[in-house]
Amino acid sequence: MSLPRISKGGVLLATGALALGMLLNPAPAQAHNNGVALTPPMGWSSWNIFGCDIDQWKIMDIADAIVEGGLRDAGYIYVNVDDCWQAQERLPNGELTWDKKRFPDGIPALAKYMHDRGLKLGIYGNPGTQSCAVWAGNYTGKMGSLGHEYQDARTFARWGVDYLKYDDCWSKVEGVNAKEAFTKMSRALKATGRPIVYSIHNMPQLPIRDWYPEVANMWRTTPDIFDNWYSVAGIALATLPVAHHSRPGAWNDPDMLEIGNENLNREEATSHMALWAMMAAPLIMGNDIRKMSKTDYWILANPLAIRVDQDRLGKAAHIVKHGSQMVLARPLTNGEWAVSFTNFSAERARVTVTLQELGLQGSWRFREAFHSRSGVTDKGLSATVNPHDSYLYVLTPHK
Ligand code: GLA
Repeated sequence: MSLPRISKGGVLLATGALALGMLLNPAPAQAHNNGVALTPPMGWSSWNIFGCDIDQWKIMDIADAIVEGGLRDAGYIYVNVDDCWQAQERLPNGELTWDKKRFPDGIPALAKYMHDRGLKLGIYGNPGTQSCAVWAGNYTGKMGSLGHEYQDARTFARWGVDYLKYDDCWSKVEGVNAKEAFTKMSRALKATGRPIVYSIHNMPQLPIRDWYPEVANMWRTTPDIFDNWYSVAGIALATLPVAHHSRPGAWNDPDMLEIGNENLNREEATSHMALWAMMAAPLIMGNDIRKMSKTDYWILANPLAIRVDQDRLGKAAHIVKHGSQMVLARPLTNGEWAVSFTNFSAERARVTVTLQELGLQGSWRFREAFHSRSGVTDKGLSATVNPHDSYLYVLTPHK
């Protein structure tokens, strides 16, 4: 079956939006400057796999698995508790607090657990008065930070939190000015003096507002990801046209990874990783690390893909060739380049790109991340790519 939702029409739409997006929405000069997320944050979040079904033991088990399996050393250091950690009500002094049944030892103890293991703790909050899970009907807490921004930021800092996902579902309903609410929390976090990654989700996600990079380290570019190829591919196609907004300290966030969950095959999981690496996206795993397959581990821990994602130049990929087979390229530090082929169609396809099409000259050594190809070329790259699969190359100047 071909991909009706993202084949030609979608690609055309995406590339048209690229030109229009760059014209109408040039990247602002100033990036949020809080000293963190100079490369895209890497870690894990509870939401994609567990939803509201979380407790401290599960989170600690996942942290152990991240360390023991080598994923911490591969760069995945943030362990993020998503929605549903909160108690139903604030304390009498107005402070936020945790659900005593599921987090009996409290968030500060969880933060210490992470810090003792070389990890960092992320937590979840909202700019309105309620969390997003209330909206989805599976949680009853009323714990948004509206009107409590400075108090909550101080609380998070005191607890030892290193990352805040600030997620909007209610501001439109509650008549809250999103820009003001997100900005206020940004200032409140900065005022604590603790370096805390600030990840925001405003709706609608696009266009990217000028103020996102000024107040936040990362911002969502699309609605929620789901565990299927159409969602992964559609999110990539919507995010590539706004690639130019990403830079060190301030990143497009095409949402958390679904690699290792049920529905992506090996090729699709490979493309998920390759595309997110090319987009310089935060790599926040969303699977049960305790039970992952060797293949999923191998994809998530792929050193070359991580190297591309984490390149300190922080330039997200641009589209070199459009169509059902897409070629992307991004410059890396030290004169290297990353180039990817993704086959969005349901047929095997030969993909070729010349050095001229890439804007490169001379002779290049290349290494491929997922298919063990390497060599030297002064002409270009080509590969026969399976349906939904990707090739991810790093090119190094030769001699
Ligand atoms: C929104 C976010 C998700 C997740 C849920 C939690 O849908 O986009 O990533 O945080 O809220 O309720």
